[in-house]
Amino acid sequence: MSAVASAPGKVILVGEHFVVENEPAIAVAINLRARVRATKVEGEGVEVRSRELGLAQVFRGDEPRSSPLYPVYFAAKVTMEYIGVESPLRVEVFSDIPPASGMGSSAAVAVATVAAVAKALGVKLAEDEISRLAYRAEEIVHGKPSGIDNTISTYGGAIAYRKTEGFLRLEADFSPIRLVLADSGLPRSTGEMVARVRRLKAKYPRVFEPLYHAAGRLAIEAGKAIEAGNFRALGELMNVNHGLLSAIGVSNEVLERLVYRAREAGALGAKITGAGGGGFIVALCEKGSEERVAKALREVSSRVFVVDVSGEGVRYEE
Ligand code: MEV
Repeated sequence: MSAVASAPGKVILVGEHFVVENEPAIAVAINLRARVRATKVEGEGVEVRSRELGLAQVFRGDEPRSSPLYPVYFAAKVTMEYIGVESPLRVEVFSDIPPASGMGSSAAVAVATVAAVAKALGVKLAEDEISRLAYRAEEIVHGKPSGIDNTISTYGGAIAYRKTEGFLRLEADFSPIRLVLADSGLPRSTGEMVARVRRLKAKYPRVFEPLYHAAGRLAIEAGKAIEAGNFRALGELMNVNHGLLSAIGVSNEVLERLVYRAREAGALGAKITGAGGGGFIVALCEKGSEERVAKALREVSSRVFVVDVSGEGVRYEE
């Protein structure tokens, strides 16, 4: 028996890093998705294949966790343990979401894997079960993530998220805007960036506390702006949020250049999205201005995506 599930990537509009320390943050799902097909097979172990990485590996349980496919195996394994059904499997990953971009590729793959594996073994999980199991796979990739990535990828739409309180769905109409994402071309690891920020925060707690407090207040204001459809205010708050991210040490010259180019080309706001240090920037654009912003960014970035906010979270496919 075979089952296919898909889940969206995400963009954090405000609050990455600060969310790790329990400040609120806001994320939206986007119309780039990861698809996973899980198939019961004869034999033993879990064979994981990734079309994008061009890799395949059979896992039997004692492989090193450093394998790039290990988190997919781990998501399948925790799902089988949870539903109490074990079987040899093939798990195939097809994803539109660029890895290590800040767009939540690993969480989307984990969410789709959990849903597909459970369904292939005859169990349809509820969304909260899918999100919780995907979080366990995310821990393998990122250390101690906040949980925002697996949550937005499971539920879709726009959410305000706080680690100890979970999420609130924002009532928002994103039809007036589009998001433009541009690649810095610099590799980075979310786990390492989070650890670096934590080290700096531990060194200067009195300086960092007001920055974190400001980021939390900013996320609340951004949530209000989104619900009021005030995207001009959201853009301004994204710019302020970028300043805070620079302050905590996750920006660099390449990211700054992309951010300023997007703003100069007419974006309402532009900032790092995700862990920073590399990956992508996001520019909030009024519909009609996105091509101008994308064109300006293409002059300095080799990969630019124009995406929409998507209401759809995890779903089963025929
Ligand atoms: C990663 O998409 C966002 C970070 O805030 C890490 C996390 O929330 O776990 C940098």
